[in-house]
Formats: sequence, structure tokens, C-alpha cells
Amino acid sequence: MTVITCGETELSDIKDYAESMSLVRHMLEHDPEALAGVHIAAGFEDADFVLRAKEFRVLHESDGFGRDVQAPILGGTLARVDGPDHFRRRRIESMLFRSPTLRGYEATVLHPAIERVLAEARQSHAGSGPARADLHDIGEAVLGEVVAALVGLDGLDTTEGRRRFDSFYQDIDNGVRISWASQDVHQLAAKGVAALNELTEHFITPSRRRRKEMLDRVASGEANPDDPPTDLITLMLQHHGDEFDDGLMIREIALYVTASVTTLTNQVCYCVHHIEEWVQQHPRDAPRRVDPVFLSRSLQESVRLHAGPVLMRRATEDVVLPSGTAVKAGEFAWVVIRQASQDGAYFGESPESFNPYREVAAGVLPYGVEFGVGRHTCVGKRFALGDEPGSVDALEGAGVILMRTLYEAGMRLDPERGRTFVPELLDVHQSSPILLTALN
Ligand code: HEM
Repeated sequence: MTVITCGETELSDIKDYAESMSLVRHMLEHDPEALAGVHIAAGFEDADFVLRAKEFRVLHESDGFGRDVQAPILGGTLARVDGPDHFRRRRIESMLFRSPTLRGYEATVLHPAIERVLAEARQSHAGSGPARADLHDIGEAVLGEVVAALVGLDGLDTTEGRRRFDSFYQDIDNGVRISWASQDVHQLAAKGVAALNELTEHFITPSRRRRKEMLDRVASGEANPDDPPTDLITLMLQHHGDEFDDGLMIREIALYVTASVTTLTNQVCYCVHHIEEWVQQHPRDAPRRVDPVFLSRSLQESVRLHAGPVLMRRATEDVVLPSGTAVKAGEFAWVVIRQASQDGAYFGESPESFNPYREVAAGVLPYGVEFGVGRHTCVGKRFALGDEPGSVDALEGAGVILMRTLYEAGMRLDPERGRTFVPELLDVHQSSPILLTALN
């Protein structure tokens, strides 16, 4: 077994990581030598370097580590390409995250969706005591609806449509998260593909048809060029042929849907638990539960502690990491972003604990490398997190708006029911029971 060292990190044995990833475990059964040539980048400097360096690229289907198993869902998507292809496509898709577009979705979809779930909680609340709800379920419902709108999937404005979407969504999401799952990876991937086919039939194809008709009407002068919505399907149709074929359109939608809803919902759950614990220990901050600046700082801090564990890259040239580790062309770097984002040299005292007032080293982002850095940095970061709190005309971001509105409705953790995690994916919330003490 290859033993890896990286600077002074204690995580010296790559087997620890391999054991925790069922895809890798699965691969090792077929190719015991697969871990030869894998290096761990767990310190902040190394992680930041690998993610930014032109000498490293993302993994392709032929690189192993399960990329082939995931390929029917994610193959060739933005997260899986580099170079000019990535640059061009990223420029097109970044149009989704401009301020007017995001503010439009906040006003027309996010706020109404939150109001709807609050109305439902009000309606189902019978009798005395505060209303009970589940932050995880609310997060998935609300964020699912907004992401669907951003992607351009129609039909989630009815209960029946949302239920149908949810029934496909979970299997697609599991099919993408197979790296960390404890079940048979091929079975999960096959279920994911079947669910993506269903999503295509019931949502993607009709939504795409409507947008194509609208673009045709614009082309023939029957409709105004401003009429088509700014959403992913419309953008892809506008670049159909040169950038996106039909299969890639479907997989790109799968990427957006799976990169966003579970990830952000999970972070919001972590964040609210941290805030409540913080407020217990710092009661003077209790009124700040509805302060967007405090909430934004809290979300940044909790993402730093809890987002993704590992990103994988492959070297295209020989390169030496800042720690001195030499990586040869063709070898791999596993970037342990969670550990790098808790590196004491950059994130101050007790870097593993939650502190919304934390000061980080100059030039370092408050959430570390948990959204990635460099050319593959999370394209949805502004949607999720908004802008730097306190900056001019800052966007609050979907996560902060959701927490603020629920806190305005008196959100507290339910003292009688604890949160639970998905059994096969230990750090992903399954439920997070709350009370809404000021719902009227
Ligand atoms: C707290 C929530 C989120 C976290 C922690 C997160 C984290 C990440 C990370 C670490 C990457 C980089 C992967 C890499 O370098 O290989 C990434 C990429 C990406 N994220 Fe997010 N993400 C979040 C929310 C979102 C949302 C809300 C969306 C969409 C609305 C989104 C869409 C994407 C896409 C499309 C990519 C691929 C970008 C590229 O490769 O160029 N993410 N995300």
C-alpha cells in the first residue's frame, strides 16, 4: 500500500481515504495497484496550489476512481472538462448567476416558495404549542423549486409536480454521491440513470420543447428577444450544436440539480445547529439570528467546517507542491478540502470549531477552499452564499434568505426531536426538526 506524506499532515496513509470511499474500494478489488501514484494535498497551501495550477486537470472517465461508473450521469459536464471547452461553457453558464437574474429568482420563486411552506406549516399546525416542521424538508422543497427554475424545469408549481420531481431527484442524487456510499455502486448508478431518464421524459423534454418554441418565435420576429427566460435550458438551446448536444444537455442539468439542492440544504442544517449552540453560549447574540450579516458569516463558517471532503485532480506535467511533495505527470492529487479549510496556520485559533467572528489570514477566503478555488470554483457560490456581507448592494443568497425568513418565524431546534443523518452518507442530514415559535 502506498504511504503518502504531505507536509506535516497526520493523514499519511492514503488507505484511510480509500477505505471511506466505496468507489475506490470497488476499484481496488479489481486493480490493487490503483492507489500507486496518488498524493494527498491536505494542507491549505498544497490544496490551494493544486486546485489553481494549470499542471492539474479534473479526472476523466478513463482515469478510474469511479468516473466511468458516474459517466452516464455526469460525463462531459462542466465539472468534468478543462481547457478551452471548460472556459467557453463556464462563460455561458455564468450568465445564470448575474445579480439581476438571481434577484429575479429570489423575488419570483424563492420568497413565494418560503411563504408557501410557512403557510403549509401554519395549516397543519393544530392545537396548542408552537408549529413543528423539518428544516431539512423545507430546505429541499424550497431550494429544489428555485434550482428547478434556474435550470428551466417547469411543472414544480404544483404539489403533484413537486412530488414527482422529488421521486426522481433522490435517485439521481444518490447516483452522483456514490463515491461515499456504502451500497453497491453499480446498482446505485443504474437507479440514478433510470431516474434521470424519467426526469427527462416528464420534465426536461417538455420544458425544453416550450423554450425551443419560444426561441423559434424570437427568431421569426413573432416574439421579443427579451421574452425567453434566463435559465440553463434556454442558454444551452441558444448554444445547441456548437457546445451542447442532447445527451450533454441532460447530464448538465443533472450536474446542476445534484450539485445544489442537497449540498446547500445540508449546509443550512449544519449552520442552524451551530448558531443555536453559539447563541446558548453567547446569549447576547440571540437578536442577531435575524441579522443577514451574522447569518452570512455563520454560513461561511459552517461551510468551512462541513462541506465536501475530497476533490481529485491528475497532473499533466511533473510538478512540486509547496510542501515539497513531487508529483509526476500522470499521478493523482486528492485534495482534502475539509482539512485544508481547517489549517491552523490560516484559520486562526481552534480552526475546527465554529466562530462567526473568526478572522482568517489575509487573502484567504472565510470558507477556505470548500467551494473549490481556481477555474472550477463553484459556479453557484453567489446563489448559495450571496456576496461578501456588508458590501455595497450585497446579495444575501438563498441560504441566508431561507434562514432569515425562518428565524423571523421564530425558528428554534425542536428540543424533543434530534436531527438524523442519511445512514449510508454519514455527514448528510436526513432530518432536522424545528419549531416555528412565531408563526402567525
Ligand atoms: C453550500 C453549497 C455548495 C457547496 C459547498 C459547493 C461546493 C462546490 C465545490 C467544492 C465545487 C468545485 C468542484 C471541483 O473543483 O472539482 C463546486 C462546483 C460546482 N458547483 Fe457548487 N457548491 C454549493 C452549491 C452549489 C449551487 C447552489 C449550485 C447551483 C445552483 C452549484 C453548482 C456547481 C457547479 C455547476 C459546479 C461545477 C463548476 C465547474 O466545474 O466549473 N453549487 N461546488
